[in-house]
Amino acid sequence: MVTVSAPGKLMVMGEHAVVYGHPCIVTAVDKRLVVTAQDHTGESDVIEAPQVTDTRFIRRALHDTKVVFGIRRSVRLLTESSFSNSYGFGSSSAVVAATIRAISALFGQTIEKKRLFDMAYRIVLSVQGVGSGFDVAAAVYGGSLYFRTGGAEITPLPNGIPLIVGYTGVKADTPTFIRRVAEERRRDTKKVDGIFRDIAKLVVRAKDVYTASDWKELGRLMDENHVQLTKLGISTPAIERLVKAASDAGAWGAKLSGAGGGDCIIALSSDRKRKAVEQAIAEEGGEVVRIATGAAGVTVETTDDQKELFIVVDTNDTVLGYQTRAACHSDPSLIHRSVGVVISDRRGRILLQRRSLMKDLQPGLWGVSAAGHVTKGETYDTAIRRELTEELGVALPLTFVGKSLFVGPEETEMSSIYTARANGPFHPDGREISELRYFGKSELTKKISSGALTLTPWTQKVLRMVDVLP
Ligand code: MEV
Repeated sequence: MVTVSAPGKLMVMGEHAVVYGHPCIVTAVDKRLVVTAQDHTGESDVIEAPQVTDTRFIRRALHDTKVVFGIRRSVRLLTESSFSNSYGFGSSSAVVAATIRAISALFGQTIEKKRLFDMAYRIVLSVQGVGSGFDVAAAVYGGSLYFRTGGAEITPLPNGIPLIVGYTGVKADTPTFIRRVAEERRRDTKKVDGIFRDIAKLVVRAKDVYTASDWKELGRLMDENHVQLTKLGISTPAIERLVKAASDAGAWGAKLSGAGGGDCIIALSSDRKRKAVEQAIAEEGGEVVRIATGAAGVTVETTDDQKELFIVVDTNDTVLGYQTRAACHSDPSLIHRSVGVVISDRRGRILLQRRSLMKDLQPGLWGVSAAGHVTKGETYDTAIRRELTEELGVALPLTFVGKSLFVGPEETEMSSIYTARANGPFHPDGREISELRYFGKSELTKKISSGALTLTPWTQKVLRMVDVLP
């Protein structure tokens, strides 16, 4: 059995123009679509996709992947989504990318990202008829991307754009709006091509300000992009209300995201204004959808493999043997090795991660910058370096702080703790991490005492050990 997940997406800037060869900026979100594939003894394939309304995408992806890899055996496919397909987060492209990857992995085939993108884009086009493929790129590559039609250019941008999402409550049909714009372009080519060129200029400029994390300027460019989109006649009163509410509440910028006609608006906002912006959107009848941007692309899930072997030790850290994750997490007498690193930036702020909801223990709580277990065959040192790469996508010089026994409510760990200094950028793994951010020490203490942020018990002890908490 193989489980694969792919992220949803949000168009940041450049919609519609991208269909005509201009660039756009898209970011993958931490709402994921999960496909599980397994061998099936029956004569024909079985697809169980209760949340997928249009099963043509998944059927086509299954069929084409089997043809490409010469697979003759039957397969059972199961899908599960952590987002409603009404939001316009791109469930069709995510399901296609995840299905191709799941079938290829089930039969031991690797598939390089560009090939996966090309295959998935062909399938989406064959079912949908139109589209630039930006959603497929987000599902395959993840992160944030500067993208050109059909994948002519796919350039990663730094992650972490602070977006707020408001759903209008209206599900829009993307192909209908692409065709509507095409119709308008046939009617008045000069006007529409002029709008596209103006949008393209904004996107090109946005690429640089995005890379520099100049959110204020990016917000201004988003506002201008929205004005251009309204000239295409694809906005609605609900969209306009939410965009205005977000702007009036102090967002740096706000715009519709996607084809128009409904779906979601996005607002770029500082942390300070986030609450006010969210409230304003809600007061105008919008549904605030909490997301983190820059999520990982299509991934064969290895998170919390319950059969993974941990190293079991005594209180002197002498190795006694190996036990599975499942055993170690259900028997506190099995002391097992773990590692953690606390990263601070040049201003002394501490990087913390919010644990993904897919974690088997303490989902949604806040933890140290990166952490994990030492698995069979690893040392503390190799384990922490692996965790840094897997969870944050970085390699950093580390300082060893010490080793300590942590007795928690669910498990007992012998942990080696490290510190590191880094200012990013990081590439957080969306399967492990739902949010990643720096906290000043006093902000952290305040948030903990007000209950706005809950640390795992292990993290509390580690932060005391490195003198972040009293
Ligand atoms: C839809 O979310 C964005 C469009 O640009 C279509 C596309 O790029 O495929 C309108």
